[in-house]
Amino acid sequence: MNTLLLHCRPGFEGEVCAEIAEHAASLQVAGYAKGKASSACAEFVCTEEGGAQALMRGVRFSQLIFPRQWARGDYVQLPETDRISVLLEHLAAYPVCGSLWLEVLDTNDGKELSNFCKKFEAPLLKALRKAGRLVDDPSKPRLLLTFKSGREVFLGLAEPDNSAFWPMGIPRLKFPRSAPSRSTLKLEEAWHQFIPRDQWDERLAPAMTAVDLGAAPGGWTWQLVNRHMLVTAIDNGPMAESLMESGLVEHLQADGFTFKPRKPVDWMVCDIVEKPARNAALLETWLGEGLCREAVVNLKLPMKQRYAEVKRLLARIEEGFVARGIRVSIACKQLYHDREEVTCHLRRLDKRGN
Ligand SMILES: C[S@@+](CC[C@H](N)C(=O)[O-])C[C@H]1O[C@@H](n2cnc3c(N)ncnc32)[C@H](O)[C@@H]1O
Repeated sequence: MNTLLLHCRPGFEGEVCAEIAEHAASLQVAGYAKGKASSACAEFVCTEEGGAQALMRGVRFSQLIFPRQWARGDYVQLPETDRISVLLEHLAAYPVCGSLWLEVLDTNDGKELSNFCKKFEAPLLKALRKAGRLVDDPSKPRLLLTFKSGREVFLGLAEPDNSAFWPMGIPRLKFPRSAPSRSTLKLEEAWHQFIPRDQWDERLAPAMTAVDLGAAPGGWTWQLVNRHMLVTAIDNGPMAESLMESGLVEHLQADGFTFKPRKPVDWMVCDIVEKPARNAALLETWLGEGLCREAVVNLKLPMKQRYAEVKRLLARIEEGFVARGIRVSIACKQLYHDREEVTCHLRRLDKRGN
């Protein structure tokens, strides 16, 4: 159980390798990272006993930018029939688990395998329960089976409170038919990712104020209006009529990079496609000057050195806040609905860190 498997968006295996190798080095966990291009996964192979467990204990999954899911374990070759007996044999070396997810990689092969997983899940659940390998206890580790084919599976473990919220890290969000653009799902996913569900009523509350920079046609504004917030939408382009009819939106044709609200607002969101350094600078200004309390901003990724560049920008933002003597929590994730971009969430904290 000494390999760490990490799922990601196809094409970002190199970023995952760079990221996990950096964490392993800082925790002095020996091993090496590898990831085949477009395989939608990477591995960190630990060369000393207990390495994968130490790595998972030392890193919060929510801190990781590019991995969508992770698990420590080993590959198991499966026969064509009676796969369950072979799995049970291997599971003898695993702790009793509290939940089971069957996962595939985000590739065409993975999509084809998901039908097999659906059929396999019920008999496997039954057998695991009968053998006492699976009990209803959410505090126990989650058993994550990532199928690479019908004959090969990664038998993995992860702590439910330190791994993805959804199988494969992919939230199943329904596109709201009245939303004016598919981008709407990016902001909804960001909220699921960054704001605990039991805090939505307080932090995404009716009558809160928000500024949406680069708002047109209004997918993100739709999410804010859906929470009954009062939105100032900044864009030279037109906003969807249906949103304007809500009476909750003021549309200003202005430059998102120079606009400042007359009074501080609760939320600033920004989906302008620009050089990432410009969007990062917006975050520094809005949070640093107290123009908003929380923000969700997209950072478009450069062509090369994508992980290094995101890290550099985040470090610069953080230094700016330290210099101002203010505390801000900073999170960054490549969401499922992100393509060549990552999404940042920032929240201003009080002196006690709340
Ligand atoms: C990706 S789209 C935003 C989509 C929007 N979030 C939605 O969900 O419908 C980017 C928008 O940024 C706007 N934009 C580009 N540069 C801008 C600037 N300097 N100030 C304000 N808006 C800008 C564009 O007009 C475009 O409508």
